[in-house]
Amino acid sequence: MSEILRISQLNVTPKNDTSRLLVNQANFSLSTGKTTCIVGESGSGKSLTALTIMGLLSKQLQASGNVVFQGQDITQLDDKAMQTIRGAKIGMIFQEPMTSLNPVLTVGYQIGEPLTAHLRLKGQALKSRVAELLEQVGIPASRADSYPDELSGGQRQRVMIAMSIACEPALLIADEPTTALDVTVQAQVLKLLDALKTRMNMAMLFITHDFGVVADIADDVIVMFRGEIVETGTRDQVLNHPQHPYTKALLACVPDAEGLKTLKPIDYAWLSQEATA
Ligand SMILES: Nc1ncnc2c1ncn2[C@@H]1O[C@H](COP(=O)(O)OP(=O)(O)OP(=O)(O)O)[C@@H](O)[C@H]1O
Ligand SMILES: [Mg+2]
Repeated sequence: MSEILRISQLNVTPKNDTSRLLVNQANFSLSTGKTTCIVGESGSGKSLTALTIMGLLSKQLQASGNVVFQGQDITQLDDKAMQTIRGAKIGMIFQEPMTSLNPVLTVGYQIGEPLTAHLRLKGQALKSRVAELLEQVGIPASRADSYPDELSGGQRQRVMIAMSIACEPALLIADEPTTALDVTVQAQVLKLLDALKTRMNMAMLFITHDFGVVADIADDVIVMFRGEIVETGTRDQVLNHPQHPYTKALLACVPDAEGLKTLKPIDYAWLSQEATA
């Protein structure tokens, strides 16, 4: 397994309040062919970490540290250079798929956009590749002429996946791609992403707050708590032998297979004492 991305000492802060560390000294690496899950509750810095890799942080925020992708520190790149990587070598499925598709353009057109922009595909070659991508994500190629609102939520999510893998990225970032879907469709989409990762030998960074998803697809796990990475390890290490009190507390909130275990709310006062002990 070769390393494809390494993040070191990543901090993200508001520009007007640099003492507020939204991401605090994050360090991790990703490898080709592996799925790494970032898990953590709402507001823990998961999306900001992903957006920093994509060079898409909001203008009010700033990042420091290094993001080395395929041997190159991409934090040093200008917008134009970053555009050749974003959507081509690094694909991303955003947290809010319904708002990421343009309602007035057909899904075929939208899947074709990255192919035209990055690979200069047009005409019949473009049409064939769009058809192939739709089939790959389990949508009949004849739906290329449909508009997003003519598709189900699960199909729209599949369209987002088709767009994100269109240029065969080396790294795919998926930010809670299944949260809005019902359980059955969620399982199908997870299976699809896992199969695509294997077939295309991508590295996948998968953001979730759901340990069921982690158990299904992760090779490695990163646990974030209030902007900090508090634990990293293989799926087995983190799920079966958690070290950090926050990971233990998060896992205690997950119902077991029979759903009989009493769910425990996280006791933050206790946690803060433990974490600083
Ligand atoms: N533009 C911004 N300006 C100021 N603070 C921000 C901005 N964007 C995000 N934040 C803050 O940064 C923190 C981390 O946000 P982030 O979106 O990474 O959370 P998350 O872990 O992805 O949560 P969720 O599971 O809800 O998606 C939050 O406290 C959020 O309020
Ligand atoms: Mg998020």
